[in-house]
Amino acid sequence: MPSALSTPNIALIKYWGNRDEALRLPKADSLSITLDSPRVEATVEPSGAFTIESFDAAGMRQPQSKQSIDRLMNHWRLSREYAHSINAELPSSVSVVIRSGVPQAIGIASSAAVFSCLAEAYAALASRPLTRQEVSIIARLGSGSAARSVLGGFVALKNVKSDAFDGAVAQQIADEKHWLLHDIVIVPSREEKKVGSTEGHAMAATSPLFDARIKAIPNRMEECTDAIRTKDFEKLQRVSEEDALEMHRVMETQSPPLHYLNDETHRLLKEIESLRRNQHIEALYTMDAGPTVHVICTEEARKAIEEFAEAQKGCVIFKTKIGAGSRQL
Ligand code: DP6
Repeated sequence: MPSALSTPNIALIKYWGNRDEALRLPKADSLSITLDSPRVEATVEPSGAFTIESFDAAGMRQPQSKQSIDRLMNHWRLSREYAHSINAELPSSVSVVIRSGVPQAIGIASSAAVFSCLAEAYAALASRPLTRQEVSIIARLGSGSAARSVLGGFVALKNVKSDAFDGAVAQQIADEKHWLLHDIVIVPSREEKKVGSTEGHAMAATSPLFDARIKAIPNRMEECTDAIRTKDFEKLQRVSEEDALEMHRVMETQSPPLHYLNDETHRLLKEIESLRRNQHIEALYTMDAGPTVHVICTEEARKAIEEFAEAQKGCVIFKTKIGAGSRQL
């Protein structure tokens, strides 16, 4: 039975807002680091009807909400449609088993890991081998950011001139051996997200700041790409922090407003700023749709950041680093 594994990614230039909600075609390009953990594994098998079973890190069966089953079924339907359009037929239905190693307390980017993993597993059932680009398109149909976890290292999701399935494709900027960066994840709250990204994306354009952000992204993409190629950490820090904070201003001014950052997040950001000022360490922060702070740092800075993270009372810490992306097992 075909199996695959995948991992989350953390964006430096954030994806927020779509030009096509159903196909998850983003309004602007984005750029992320693929992480090497936690892992999600999936096994798939052709079957008479679509079924899904899910297990958590401890091997406990996870009940699926109706919303989650509908999303997975819709993704399978879109995957089949896309596969048909490129002469790579998929079976009429499939049984899926997902084993998620994402600890419940951290819940980082699990949809990116799950949908890239499923894309990889579905690809193994196609009537012909799929290219990495094609696998990444299938991942994107389930979760926009999942398209980036299909490749390793530093990955851009770029819009191309098409409104069809292939309207946005993942592109590797540099592989995981290019620059060893760590992501020390500090989770200040276990509270579940009230509004998920899918609903949030759909309202992004209601923010008065949205258009200006979309216009600013091409320049930032260039700067970020250049910072990665030349390993210029200071530049990487400036452009990615600017972009993350701006995305949250968009979220906070869209209607209805989304306040993902909390007082604890803001406290952590201030402390990270003073830590790097005082100790001259290479560390930057970024936050997705939640209060969790990702501290991206170099190997030289890792010890100091880990010590800082471990000293945060009441926070759950997760240590990960740049990784190779999804693959079939
Ligand atoms: C804030 O990919 O989670 O993490 O397609 O609805 O699953 P869906 O959205 P998702 O959006 C990611 C938003 C983000 C920024 C990013 O990862 O680029």
